[in-house]
Amino acid sequence: MSELILVSRADAVCELRLNRPDKRNALTFAMYEALARALTEAQADAQVRAVLLSGAGAGFSAGNDLNDFLQAPQFTSDHPVMAFLRTLATFSKPLVAAVHGQSVGIGVTMLLHCDLVVAATGSQFSMPFVALGLVPEAASSLLLPRLVGTQRAAELLLLGRPFDAERAHSLGLVNRVVDGTVLLEEGRQLARSLAQQPATALAATRRLLRGDPAQLLERIEEEARIFGAQLQSQELRAAISAFLARGRGA
Ligand code: COA
Repeated sequence: MSELILVSRADAVCELRLNRPDKRNALTFAMYEALARALTEAQADAQVRAVLLSGAGAGFSAGNDLNDFLQAPQFTSDHPVMAFLRTLATFSKPLVAAVHGQSVGIGVTMLLHCDLVVAATGSQFSMPFVALGLVPEAASSLLLPRLVGTQRAAELLLLGRPFDAERAHSLGLVNRVVDGTVLLEEGRQLARSLAQQPATALAATRRLLRGDPAQLLERIEEEARIFGAQLQSQELRAAISAFLARGRGA
């Protein structure tokens, strides 16, 4: 089986590429584990000065694997999803994301932890947590209103409707929108530029911009408690069964 997370290095930039294209890079527990491990290694490696996230195939990520949700996991602190979210929220080096195609659920909320996001023209974003009977995660219930304002966050999270790259740009969720053919190069350039900045000043500025990590971690835990309970709900089971039954004449 090919690697589900491709890790590579170009000078001081570590690239992490989601690599489950046949399932639109839907994230499995094993992928969260691999991502957390790769971030932890990037954090520990003094040669790495920035990390670039991207996705292989038709889109960045279709969010959490819906089949995994049906196992109704309890998000205890040692669960791979929780370990990944903690690592992401406390990561101390610059994070850049280059996204294209569909970004759904955690495929969007993880962008709120990135310093810079570049999106390909035609990208689509959505956070359909409520429609699935779920609640937002990754501290997005805190970070999204902070970024876009309470009313706009309410619209994006309560209705969960898809929005395009231009809207994501006007909301401030992405820094720039570029043609898909130059997406990765643009992401790499941004990551390289960050990697070339004086590391201590850069890290300190990131900390100031991001605020108190304890608040983020607390919100991640609070969301996970409710999310875990909702995973037991009939609303969730009905929504996922409907999605998985598509194309089977159901
Ligand atoms: N979990 C598990 N499998 C998923 C998945 C997910 N989140 N998203 C896509 N897949 C699978 C599909 O079941 C399909 O598998 P199959 O080829 O074995 O039937 C394959 O990936 C391709 O998906 P498809 O829907 O045909 O691709 P698309 O390009 O038409 O649409 C999306 C892409 C992302 C819009 C659509 O797949 C989708 O809505 N996925 C669910 C997103 C979601 O609700 N995520 C959870 C958020 S909390």
